[in-house]
Amino acid sequence: HSAGPCTIVIFGAAGDLTKRLLLPALYNLKRSNLLPQEFAIVGVAHTPISQDDFRSKLNRDIHEFATVAVDDQLWQQFEQRLYYLSGEFQDAKMYQQLHNLLTQVDQDCGTQGNYLFYLATSSNFFCDIIAQLGAAGLVQEDNGHWRRVIIEKPFGHDLESARSLNQNISHVLKESQIYRIDHYLGKETVQNILVFRFGNGLFEPIWNREHIDHVQITVAETVGVEGRGNFYEGTGAVRDMMQNHLFQLLTMITMEPPVSFDADAVRDEKSKLLKSVQPFTAEMVQTQTVQGQYGEGTVNGKTVPAYRSEPRVAPDSTTETYAALKLTIDNWRWAGVPFYLRTGKCLSARVTEVVVQFKQVPSLLFRDTSIDHLTPNFLVLRIQPDEGISFQLGAKIPGPTMQIGAVKMDFCYADYFGTTPSTGYETLLYDCMIGDATLFQRSDNVELGWRIVSPILDVWAATSPQNFPNYTAGTWGPTQADALLERDGRQWRVGTA
Ligand code: BG6
Repeated sequence: HSAGPCTIVIFGAAGDLTKRLLLPALYNLKRSNLLPQEFAIVGVAHTPISQDDFRSKLNRDIHEFATVAVDDQLWQQFEQRLYYLSGEFQDAKMYQQLHNLLTQVDQDCGTQGNYLFYLATSSNFFCDIIAQLGAAGLVQEDNGHWRRVIIEKPFGHDLESARSLNQNISHVLKESQIYRIDHYLGKETVQNILVFRFGNGLFEPIWNREHIDHVQITVAETVGVEGRGNFYEGTGAVRDMMQNHLFQLLTMITMEPPVSFDADAVRDEKSKLLKSVQPFTAEMVQTQTVQGQYGEGTVNGKTVPAYRSEPRVAPDSTTETYAALKLTIDNWRWAGVPFYLRTGKCLSARVTEVVVQFKQVPSLLFRDTSIDHLTPNFLVLRIQPDEGISFQLGAKIPGPTMQIGAVKMDFCYADYFGTTPSTGYETLLYDCMIGDATLFQRSDNVELGWRIVSPILDVWAATSPQNFPNYTAGTWGPTQADALLERDGRQWRVGTA
């Protein structure tokens, strides 16, 4: 199953993403024999170091960040295929050098002119790098070789900038060459949502407004902005998490069955779904969204400073570190079913879950039991960290009187499959090498996501929150987010269930 001959060129090869995720993922692919024999990695960055220094740096990095024990023999084979070019991303001469280096690598390693360019840089460079790659003739696909580009997030800052980025890069690349990454799609548990829905006959017939009361999606983090204050200040929770990671979960849960598992079939369904999300009016933003920012508190026993006291954050910052919203999907399957989405930093636990609450029974047979005491059926898809799926049922509590209690059927990934030492990037890198874009975002998917959040961001920007900080680090977020569900007679289940 190994991918065909190719060279991966990583822009930003001296940065954080490369050492923490890309390098361990590539090493894991090597371990699993999924990399071709004819393979090389070319690192590009402005750090002025030699190729030998680059190899030594990556040697140290892999020993620090590998998800498995490093096999020295295997690493040596890997290391021999590492090349480095230092230069400025805007400098046309650098791309000529890259051209020469890649030709040399093709000769040395048999990589046959197939190049995967990975843009692991700040988003400010995306346009320039792609334009320069085009000008240097590095992304033309001819003579039987392929050229692909993986673009990291954030893909644009709002609808307009995402559109203009799409337009700019479309002058250089065909859509089929562009791989917009959302690393949530690399997670096994996220991919499994489709298998759960479309590989099992049981749930799909009840996966609709007739049977489902509402759905909650929670992506809670305990970490703060981790020294990225500069980036986060202009970003916030909606742009950093909601528009991409939470919307991926939403579309996987709600889209119609695609006609096949081909990239366009799946991405067509995602776009259709995003188009059916009811657009937020200014009034809906007031009543159906909540923004929050953490104040000082205690997370996992450690004191955490307020967001406004983080380095490179304005002391009166109005950036949201928490966002919750209620949305509805205007189609035949979901009309009238509320979807509650929330995400935040410095919350009380790290947990990503989708909770599907089913409707109550229409009337209750059992004497002595009130329908209010009957807990409904919940299906919980545990995305991370305790990966699994559980289903809550009512059961008769043994004894002479009829009492019903809640019990759980539980599937844990670790019990069945052990722990998988993967970063989530393995699948995505491999898929790109074999030319499968199913788990990547198409231009319309990204723009439709921005279209949904744009009115929220606009209204929020126009009405600076007066009450920030409005949640204590280490709690479950602002009380307004609880009120959002309480108004509908519901409550958040994750963490508080
Ligand atoms: C990134 C965000 O995309 O996802 C980070 O920029 C966030 O702010 C991270 O912490 C969360 O990813 P994961 O895989 O840890 O849930």
